[in-house]
Amino acid sequence: MTSTGRHSAVRPRAAPSRSGGTGRQDAGRHDTGRHDTAPVRSRVPARGAPGGAVPGWGGEPAPRRSARPPVEPVLLAEDLVRVHGRGRGAVRALDGVSVEVERGELVAVMGASGSGKSTLLHCLAGLDRPTRGRVHWAGVEVTGLSERRLTRLRRERIGVVFQAYDLLPQLTVRQNVVLPVEIAGARPDREWLDTVLEVLGLEAVARKLPRELSGGQQQRVAVARALALRPDVVLADEPTGALDVGTAADLMRFLRGCIDGLGTTVVMATHDPLAAEWADRVLLLHSGRVAVELEAPSAHACLDALARARPPARGRGA
Ligand SMILES: Nc1ncnc2c1ncn2[C@@H]1O[C@H](COP(=O)(O)OP(=O)(O)OP(=O)(O)O)[C@@H](O)[C@H]1O
Ligand SMILES: [Mg+2]
Repeated sequence: MTSTGRHSAVRPRAAPSRSGGTGRQDAGRHDTGRHDTAPVRSRVPARGAPGGAVPGWGGEPAPRRSARPPVEPVLLAEDLVRVHGRGRGAVRALDGVSVEVERGELVAVMGASGSGKSTLLHCLAGLDRPTRGRVHWAGVEVTGLSERRLTRLRRERIGVVFQAYDLLPQLTVRQNVVLPVEIAGARPDREWLDTVLEVLGLEAVARKLPRELSGGQQQRVAVARALALRPDVVLADEPTGALDVGTAADLMRFLRGCIDGLGTTVVMATHDPLAAEWADRVLLLHSGRVAVELEAPSAHACLDALARARPPARGRGA
């Protein structure tokens, strides 16, 4: 289980270690040469300062987290339990999961099919109400909020990539991507939207309908839509599930660029150890509980942990 107290410790920034190592504890990481963030960095404009300096973004080294005063975690889940159904058919999809995620972290959630990854993401996104436990977004407890307030707050802060993409079939790619901006009543940031479409390789299909796209293209549209409002937090359910290795690496590089350049926080469920390799932390779920937590593991370390995963001992109150 991820104790909510354990992650208040200062963690070094992830990005530099991709190209050289910062002294962060690497769990068997091996440099595959895939982690050059330079091409993406040059394409992600800074929030609120197009073309301007962003801490940690090209040139100036980013301030270490140790220099910052302690802040509320962006996401905090306390002892989440989610039971689907009732009686003998009830399924305990989450069984006492606690997670704390800092701003600018990339956390991957892995585990066998049915281990609770999507349920956890849905609870973190406030799309599903836990049976027990609480979820906080930057210090605001959202578990008890009305649907209306929750929806508004989510719109302002969180981009969600659903496992089933959930694109609107009658809208073009670009219209799907712009939709959250329109719903929020915000002015579309064309430069940002163009960047997202370009980096995700969607420019050429921007006028097509979802049914005219491959599965991988649809998945990238779902990612683009989640990023349209430059959310503080992206919760992505298997965002590389339908992508080939190269396209998946491009997507992860782009997400990493958003994290390191804009301070975006990403929590993603994945079965893909190569995607998980980009994460600062991997939580491995087993039967609705966090069985193992890995710091910046290599793909091999993820596979090894998956093979060895056993249900953790039941904790207090779980
Ligand atoms: N709406 C639901 N009603 C009943 N059971 C559900 C519901 N949603 C999920 N479950 C059950 O909860 C458990 C966890 O499901 P979840 O979708 O979170 O798994 P997952 O780890 O995301 O799996 P996958 O890797 O296949 O996407 C599973 O046993 C699933 O059958
Ligand atoms: Mg799932």
